[in-house]
Amino acid sequence: MNTQENNQKLTLRSGGPAARIAVIPGDGIGKEVTPEAVKVLRAVAAAGKRRMEFVEFDWGADKYLHEGVSLPNGAVEMLRDEFDAILFGALGDPRVPSNQHAGDILLGLRVKLDLYVNARPLELLHERLTPLRDRTEKDLRIMVFRENTEGLYAGVGGFFKKGTPDEIAVQEDVNSRKGVERIIRYAFAYARQKGLKRVCMSDKSNALTFAHDLWQRVFKEVRQEYADIDSRHVYIDTLAMEMVRDPRQFDVIVTCNLFGDILSDLGAQLAGGLGLAPSGNIHPGRTSLFEPVHGSAPTIAGKGIANPLGSVLAAGMMLEFLGWKTEADAVHSAVREALFKNYLTPDLGGAKKTVEVGDWLAEFVAQAATT
Ligand SMILES: NC(=O)c1ccc[n+]([C@@H]2O[C@H](COP(=O)([O-])OP(=O)(O)OC[C@H]3O[C@@H](n4cnc5c(N)ncnc54)[C@H](O)[C@@H]3O)[C@@H](O)[C@H]2O)c1
Repeated sequence: MNTQENNQKLTLRSGGPAARIAVIPGDGIGKEVTPEAVKVLRAVAAAGKRRMEFVEFDWGADKYLHEGVSLPNGAVEMLRDEFDAILFGALGDPRVPSNQHAGDILLGLRVKLDLYVNARPLELLHERLTPLRDRTEKDLRIMVFRENTEGLYAGVGGFFKKGTPDEIAVQEDVNSRKGVERIIRYAFAYARQKGLKRVCMSDKSNALTFAHDLWQRVFKEVRQEYADIDSRHVYIDTLAMEMVRDPRQFDVIVTCNLFGDILSDLGAQLAGGLGLAPSGNIHPGRTSLFEPVHGSAPTIAGKGIANPLGSVLAAGMMLEFLGWKTEADAVHSAVREALFKNYLTPDLGGAKKTVEVGDWLAEFVAQAATT
């Protein structure tokens, strides 16, 4: 893979006039926030005279409990061949303690669609949202790229003498040369395309002397192709401290699956909490999946108070992936405006219902297009 090719493939295709979107609301509040994101997408597509077609799938705990089906046969091929992108809600239901269906569907799609980039933007949209003292919007704007298909989440391992006092549990950290190289390249290509000057690779190579030695070697090779970008390495424990101490140091962070998972949740909290955090599961140039970072929040499900902003921002990321930059910017502006006007659900200190926030955002993007 050369750099030019990688640069070209950060988005889906050409940003054409029509898009086909698979919608998987899932469980709990996924079923409440996803329709609001679709509502905003319909409004922004109409305002931009674009055609967006939605097909909804009822995959989740109900289907699993009634029919014993989690990810139906042929689903992966159908999504890959017939859709441009997937808008996903959340999975997880107390009636399925093993969360078997969630693993099958979400992890299944990530792996089978080979969505190797987990993009998690950490952006402070209003200074009152951060727990950090004296920080403003300009101090926290970081894109975290987490490797999304291997590492400690590859599911390689086993038990020995399970259930006995001598039990041993082994979980392998799987790092392929190809897997490490493509996520590091993506981070550099993204930085260059966005005009960002700094890329930080984070690992724990001082302790994980095999797996992260590979990360070190690949990073050193790839960074040579990006002399215009200031690249550095920071150990993950130091990085966690530094992100809290002074988040202004970072533009783009790239790291492995486990560290990216933890670090991006830390960052999400610095930027206003789970209700606001979006993510993209991306394979450049192929059908990719966009979702809020939060889960199905069973304790507030059905009350109509879930914050839809994480899902709406994920929909905005999807628009950018489709190459619809104007529409993506319009969605982002609408969310910022809702924050400034305090048109928010209770988790962010507002008094609005999920549906009211969705209606307001849809109206905002429609009006913005006419002014
Ligand atoms: N990607 C996913 O589908 C995903 C991610 C995380 C957790 N889960 C699953 O979700 C279920 C619940 O997990 P959890 O409680 O650890 O995490 P969670 O994200 O569902 O909830 C954590 C806390 O944040 C609150 N919260 C989350 N999203 C919110 C929103 N949009 N608006 C207002 N408040 C919100 C919840 O009420 C809860 O207090 C579990 O089954 C878990 O496995 C799924």
